[in-house]
Amino acid sequence: MCGIVGYVGEKLATDVILEGLQKLEYRGYDSSGVAILGSGKLKFRKIAGRLSNLISSVEENPVEGTIGIGHTRWATHGAPSDVNAHPHTNEDGTIAVVHNGIIENYMTLKNELIEKGYNFESDTDTEIVAKLLDMYYEGDLLQAVFKMVKRLKGAYALGIVSSNNPDELIAVRKESPLILGVGDDELFVASDIPAILNRTRKVIYLENNDIVKLTREGYTIYNVDRNVVEREVKEILWDVEAATKEGYDHFMIKEINQQSSVIKDTLFRRLDDKGNIYLENVNIDSKYLTTINKIYIVACGTAYHAGLIGKHILEKFLNLHVIIDIASEFRYGNNFVDDKTLMIVVSQSGETADTLAALRLAKSKGARILSITNVVGSTVARESDDIFYTWAGPEIAVASTKAYTTQLTAFYMISLYFGKLKGTLGDEIYNEILSELKSLPAKVKAAIEESEKVAREIAEKIKNKRSLFYIGRGLDYYTAMEGALKLKEISYIQAEAFAAGELKHGSIALIEKDTPVIAIATQRDLYEKTVSNIKEVKARGAYTIGITRVSNKDLENVCDSVIYLDETYDIFMPLLSVISPQLLAYYAAVERGNDVDKPRNLAKSVTVE
Ligand code: G6P
Repeated sequence: MCGIVGYVGEKLATDVILEGLQKLEYRGYDSSGVAILGSGKLKFRKIAGRLSNLISSVEENPVEGTIGIGHTRWATHGAPSDVNAHPHTNEDGTIAVVHNGIIENYMTLKNELIEKGYNFESDTDTEIVAKLLDMYYEGDLLQAVFKMVKRLKGAYALGIVSSNNPDELIAVRKESPLILGVGDDELFVASDIPAILNRTRKVIYLENNDIVKLTREGYTIYNVDRNVVEREVKEILWDVEAATKEGYDHFMIKEINQQSSVIKDTLFRRLDDKGNIYLENVNIDSKYLTTINKIYIVACGTAYHAGLIGKHILEKFLNLHVIIDIASEFRYGNNFVDDKTLMIVVSQSGETADTLAALRLAKSKGARILSITNVVGSTVARESDDIFYTWAGPEIAVASTKAYTTQLTAFYMISLYFGKLKGTLGDEIYNEILSELKSLPAKVKAAIEESEKVAREIAEKIKNKRSLFYIGRGLDYYTAMEGALKLKEISYIQAEAFAAGELKHGSIALIEKDTPVIAIATQRDLYEKTVSNIKEVKARGAYTIGITRVSNKDLENVCDSVIYLDETYDIFMPLLSVISPQLLAYYAAVERGNDVDKPRNLAKSVTVE
């Protein structure tokens, strides 16, 4: 996710663009830049770090002009740096491009351009767009854009300007969002409405494959076949604050709802032409996988819970011993890490101090480090040998949701990929499991839709409870741990997860009349045993809630409420069963009037040990 703003009018373009970018910082904030057309020349400013760095730089050294493009970046290809910040240009700096999305075939195109003599200065996929435009440019920017887009695969919203056509701005939309703002004698393009809402309320939602030419005289929208198309101008009636959250009350609920699409991004953008998994930043081969004698996983908080599920899947697919530890505890035992150890480090932010300390210790003992992280160029990513980026986009709410489910997706993909590479997973079973994994984004969407109402009702019932318990067996126990953590973090209700079979060895003493117990019962082999454990707490007066597969209707006999999930393989159930605990935590926190996105005492990224 990145943010784009473009302007064509009579005002100072930097003022309009920087104001717009400030409203888009939620889309990315690791570097930013502008390209402005003034007096027939193209001038640039781009800089790593928060948008405030760009604002200071423009204040110190203004760039005059009334047409321009700007960008705030959330890195995918290439670490956040001045060089990788957008806009990107052709070699003589006459064409500038800003981009949101991922060009999937950029490596092929880059090699082709290098063969033709083009040099690249950044690690981004975007730079190939500027160089392709240079290759096709014959005096008309729009014609070059028509030719260039035919070469791109992937998702992209683009803003393009050239000093050789100094009175126009071209914008392109395919899959990544882009809107056109229509003002009085001025036009805007932006990734999202808040960027321009102070300037105009008249907006066109550009459609896939729309190419727009903006000049001071007006705009024309074309399709890829160069035919003019008409789009309706809509009036925006809501305010900026609501729009940043895209109509949601909080970032957390927006991020819960994004899960289906970010899982899809994480998965589908890593499939090769044959539909097999291809991990571009992981250089591990089959020889290495037969040499190692164990995998170690370390992480904190929610990322640790993803690791627990990862351990189970890796062991199953690789037939290899996998050890997991909480990062802050890792250093205190004899961990037997050596050069035959692959360490998998999981961290949304890539900056968690405990996780980094564990990574460095393992590295010093000779382990190879594979990180699963959401932030490109983060310290964890920089210090790892191999990286799997989760591509969940910026996660703003402190309570992690979409980062967690993309971390699970990462573990499924890594396990499948390694299993095939090592030969412990045959082709047939690999294909079967991967095909089921591809159906998961739709099932996650259904889980969100189906859990919403029940989660609200249960939240209403538990909102004044002092404590609540989650129980489960096997993979369900790990989801129970994540469910309890979510509830504690934002609703401040004391919540604990128990392995369902362990309950009777002490913890069952806590159950009294109306104590809420949420049982996760999705694992087929363990179902009957979990049902017995629900009966035990029910017999002691508990208010019981079940989360199970749609086929287990009999759970209604022992639970006061049941949330049903679509059928899938047992191993994939954690992707579905975590949804209602996330929603329950969210609605309980809302009911209690808590600051959902910024809960007390917590920080999104914990950089102290
Ligand atoms: C903090 C956050 C948690 C997060 C944990 C690990 O404690 O509040 O939500 O799970 O850090 O963060 P990381 O960025 O390493 O995944």
